[in-house]
Formats: sequence, C-alpha cells, structure tokens
Amino acid sequence: MPSAVGQIEVVPLHKTFTAEVRGVDFSQPLPARVIEQIQAAIDQHGVLVFRNTGLDDKRQIAFAAQFGPLDDMEPHIKAGRKMRLPDKEMFDVSNLDPDGNIVTELDPQRLGAMKGNALWHADLAFNSPRAGYSMLRAHELPPKGLGGETEYLDARAAYDDLPDAMKKRIENLVGNHSMMHNRKLAAPDIYESINVRDFPFSKHKLVVPHRNGRNTLYLTSYIHHIDGMSDDESQALVDELFAHATQPQYRTLIQWENNSDLIMWDNTAVLHRATGGAYLTKHVRDMRRTTSNDTGAHAHGMNDPSKPFRQGLPIPKS
Ligand SMILES: [Fe+2]
Repeated sequence: MPSAVGQIEVVPLHKTFTAEVRGVDFSQPLPARVIEQIQAAIDQHGVLVFRNTGLDDKRQIAFAAQFGPLDDMEPHIKAGRKMRLPDKEMFDVSNLDPDGNIVTELDPQRLGAMKGNALWHADLAFNSPRAGYSMLRAHELPPKGLGGETEYLDARAAYDDLPDAMKKRIENLVGNHSMMHNRKLAAPDIYESINVRDFPFSKHKLVVPHRNGRNTLYLTSYIHHIDGMSDDESQALVDELFAHATQPQYRTLIQWENNSDLIMWDNTAVLHRATGGAYLTKHVRDMRRTTSNDTGAHAHGMNDPSKPFRQGLPIPKS
C-alpha cells in the first residue's frame, strides 16, 4: 500500500530483522519527522534497505550526519594512503585502487582488506568509540549474477536464543578487537610478518545492551582474545559462539539491484560480511560508505573514554 505524504513505509524482509524503507524523498534534506521515523525503524529492524535513492556522495554524507558524528579516513590519510574519493567522510569500499583500476594481487593491502570484509564483523569494532550506523551506497555495480551481495546477521536474536548457561558464562567477558587479527585470519600470507600484539586492542564486552534495551552479541572476527582466557580458550569460545550465531535463521542476504541503492545498518545490533564473487578482479564494484560513531553509553566499551583511538592501516612488508 502506498505511503501517505510525509510517511515512510517500512516493509519487513525477514522474520526477526531487516526491512525495506519506501517513500523517502532523498532529493532534498530530510525533515526531522522523517529522520525520527527512520531512527525508529533502524532501532527495531537493525538493517534498512533504500532502493534507488538517487544520492550522490555529498548528499549521502549530509544524510548520514543526521544520525551522529561521522568517522573519517584521517588515520589512513596520515598513514600515507592515497585516496580515490575526495571526501574524507566517504570510506572507499570498492574493488578499485586510488587510480580507479580494479584491484589485483599486486595490491596486497587492499586485497587483504577485501578478504577481511568477507568475515563476520561490525564496522570499526577495533576503534574507540566503535561505529554506530553504516550507510553503504552502490555507486557502480558489477553485472548481475557475478556476486557482491552483502549478508547480515541478527546479533540480538542470536543472543536471545543462547542457552541460559552460555548467557551466564559470557555476560561479563571482554573481547579484544584488532583489525590486524581479522586481516591475518583472512589473508595469512599477506600479513605473515605482522604480530597482532604489536597493535592496540579495543575492548568491548561480548554482550552489550542495545539502545533499545535488548542485548546484542557483540561477536566479531576482530576478536583476538578474551580477557582472562588463553588464546586457545578464547578462540574455542569465539568459534562456539559463531557456530550458534551463523545459523541460517539469523542471516539474510541482500542483493544490490540498482546504482544508488543504499543499505543502512546498526553495527551495535547486527553483524555483516561481504560475499565476494566472480566480479572481484574483473568488474568494477564501486561501493561508498559513511559511518557514524556510536554515541551511546557503550561506545567506548571497556576502553578509557577520555582516550579515543583509531587503528590505521600499516603497510605490510612485501
Ligand atoms: Fe564492513
């Protein structure tokens, strides 16, 4: 049923989370009442799909900024990384190098990042503050049927269904998140020379209350170890929790249909991963992400809130 003027329509796409939002006019700044409706929808559903938004970089940044302060690429710029996109608030999630060429094995750092994104994660869990909302827009999609879908996982439903004994066991455990750990897991050959312990960890509890009151299983492939446990014990518990959380009922795969489709997700409620595909080293897939900082009570987790930090990208030795 079409939405009334000024009203958005929220159509659930899955039993427990994810919805498509229709009736948003992105051709002009969104009024406060629409932002409030989108805020309510993301609180409930965790993932929102907006088709054919018509957004460009500048207007996506302006839209994203209405949901909190935006993170930027400053650590990467300081680390000497050349940027393809002019706005520092726009994260380049494409398969393109800074000159616009499709990434190959000759760019191990970029390839490692792409492989790391295929593992389940919440964006910027290795920072303090962690990320709140991500908005990913398709600027240019590869031909259909060659992959590139994004998969989501309902980390609140997965928590709810844990056995009581497991809930009790993990309620106060603290995970140590490192971007380098994820990269090493995904591309051990590229990151062979890197010792994860040479880099800072961001500490977040495994169970974090969401702003709507429900608990989230804040379980990411960035978790290198858990405080008070050996590396082997930590990995065994992380594996056990992932075996539970990645069951089919908690997951949904979203197809990118049109250039300017945008997916907004709440990193404090859901996990996600890139699925890769045959397009990867053959066809342009230009995806652009804005990311707001979490501003809630658990934004800094168990880190010192007076000392925010972000993990830059070291250059692996060739
Ligand atoms: Fe991501």
